[in-house]
Amino acid sequence: MNTSRIVVVGSYNHDVSLAVARLPAPGETCLSQGRLESPGGKGSNQAIQAARAGAGVAMVAAVGLDGPGDAALALWEENGIETTGVMRLADVGTGMAMILVDAAAENVIVVDAGANARLAPAHVEAAANLIGASRLVVAQLETPVAATIRAFELARAAGAATLLNAAPAPDFVDPALIALTDILVVNEGEGQAISGHPDAAAIGEALLQRAREAVVVTLGAKGAMLFRRHQPSLSLAPPAVEVVDTTGAGDAFTGAFAARWVADGNAAAALAWGVAAGALACTARGAAAACADGRRIAALAGTG
Ligand code: RIB
Repeated sequence: MNTSRIVVVGSYNHDVSLAVARLPAPGETCLSQGRLESPGGKGSNQAIQAARAGAGVAMVAAVGLDGPGDAALALWEENGIETTGVMRLADVGTGMAMILVDAAAENVIVVDAGANARLAPAHVEAAANLIGASRLVVAQLETPVAATIRAFELARAAGAATLLNAAPAPDFVDPALIALTDILVVNEGEGQAISGHPDAAAIGEALLQRAREAVVVTLGAKGAMLFRRHQPSLSLAPPAVEVVDTTGAGDAFTGAFAARWVADGNAAAALAWGVAAGALACTARGAAAACADGRRIAALAGTG
């Protein structure tokens, strides 16, 4: 069994993704050009990417006692992810996401949280042994904040670092959660929602006052910026790839960044891995299905 160095506290969704020529206007019906049902959920996508990038990963999540829940467990086990922290709930369905992907490879996503909304601090406490043995706890905003705060408290008590990917964009983020965050990863929309600033540099500088160690602002086709205390910011453009579907690209960034960072704390190399993994995730349809392995990421990033 892997020594689990990253614990992901987060969501799993059954993604139903429809390809459309263009996104429909309100009240309009349009025909799909193809359907893909595949594993998703920001937490699971990040866990899959971190595991494929070479990290030992454990998942703390809640799924239903249904077919999609079975598929989640099978996916995690296939990818060598520790699943003893996964709850099966009999009275609620596994999370689901409805996704439209247009001809320009952009997407819109609606998530029905299902079992994800029931992940509770008590579930996290039942996985305290996993968190205590980890180096990094990773979370997002698709599962209840109370559970994430408890996970981050346990991480701090155990000397593990914490990474919050503040996605989807929040109306409000509990200051207690940010105060427990070492590394904060946001895209420009999420960063603006939290900081009130419109551009990446201002977002990074403002949020660095609140996160303990580093802030990453992802910029889609423009790559990402890294902000650290007492160091100049780093900016990295992505390598050119043929973009098919951007669903899960941010998750691939976060998972690969986490896996590379936990290896030796080299944040610049982690940025390069995140940008490369995000680019590779755009070259195939689906979220978890599009996560590349560490060999391809290292080759594209130009760094081991
Ligand atoms: O970030 C992409 C993910 O967002 C999809 O897999 C979907 O499930 C939603 O969680």
